[in-house]
Amino acid sequence: MKTILVTGGAGFIGSHLYEKLLGEGYSVICLDNFDSYYDPNLKIRNVEEISKKYPGPFTMVTGDIRNRDHLTDLFKRSRIDAVFHLAARAGVRPSIVDPLLYEDVNLRGTLTLLEVCKEFGMKNFFFASSSSVYGENQRVPFSETDLDIQPISPYGATKRAGELLCYSYHHLFGIHIACLRIFTAYGPRQRPEMAIHKFTSLMDQGKEVPMYGDGSSKRDYTYIDDLIDGMMALLQRHKGFEIYNLGESRTTSLKELIRMIEGCLGKKAKILAMDPQPGDVSITYADITKAKRLLNYQPKIGMEEGIKRFVEWYKNRSD
Ligand SMILES: NC(=O)c1ccc[n+]([C@@H]2O[C@H](COP(=O)([O-])OP(=O)(O)OC[C@H]3O[C@@H](n4cnc5c(N)ncnc54)[C@H](O)[C@@H]3O)[C@@H](O)[C@H]2O)c1
Repeated sequence: MKTILVTGGAGFIGSHLYEKLLGEGYSVICLDNFDSYYDPNLKIRNVEEISKKYPGPFTMVTGDIRNRDHLTDLFKRSRIDAVFHLAARAGVRPSIVDPLLYEDVNLRGTLTLLEVCKEFGMKNFFFASSSSVYGENQRVPFSETDLDIQPISPYGATKRAGELLCYSYHHLFGIHIACLRIFTAYGPRQRPEMAIHKFTSLMDQGKEVPMYGDGSSKRDYTYIDDLIDGMMALLQRHKGFEIYNLGESRTTSLKELIRMIEGCLGKKAKILAMDPQPGDVSITYADITKAKRLLNYQPKIGMEEGIKRFVEWYKNRSD
């Protein structure tokens, strides 16, 4: 049985990934420091929910990717076949407020983990990058072959820098590495500060929904099950070094998004018009030709269905 290390495994995407890995018969080690970016109890609940469903083989390790000794210990104790590196400080706006923390976790943390992987001869490393690396790219849809991209937030910059570190470790030490440019993931357990979750919660409570800009900004939203299918394909299909866009290759404007949530929730949003936020881009839009070709990636859940599923989860959640 293969053992997979998922860093950041208690979070939104990580918890879906290790649930899927367990379901497919992998043994999973989940490393997470349960940071306070959002309520750690939500992460504890993610882990508890899945542990009930799949009693094993699963090991939860509380620890920090910046702690080299701890990582070394972990790799000494376990034979790990592949690493999905998801642990990070996420979020564009908070990265402008505290860029040094983002640099520390996203960059030093990634480098520390790569160093330990090198030391233990790890051959498969999959890094959660972000569509934020594209910044205000004018060529749509965004392609991995666009080279003159400039992130416009410290968060995006740390993710791009992480990709560059990954390439150097592939080149120097022959590690098979994939960097996944994830386009706004959503679905059950989404981080509470992300737009879909936040808007649903505010509308449900009859509170004002802040709409930044005129509502015309567009995002390529990726339903969590589609994203996880793309990530799982790496285990069978990835070799060498590649960057993959994982999105739906469709865009939805902020106004359309609010309308969809209203429809599923059966409540009207009280819109609070706000100025556009620094660091936010006007569009994200993934060209997924490469992931389709190399990973057989085939996103299936469109926004109407995905928002319906999210709102159902939101209404039935236990808090
Ligand atoms: N959710 C998205 O739409 C999206 C889009 C692009 C990229 N990503 C990337 O995907 C990854 C997962 O995102 P998410 O939405 O699940 O976020 P999340 O915050 O829910 O998950 C990240 C997890 O990492 C953990 N963590 C943070 N710092 C750590 C550290 N120093 N050591 C160990 N664990 C630590 C957190 O406690 C959390 O559980 C992140 O790298 C994020 O940047 C997410």
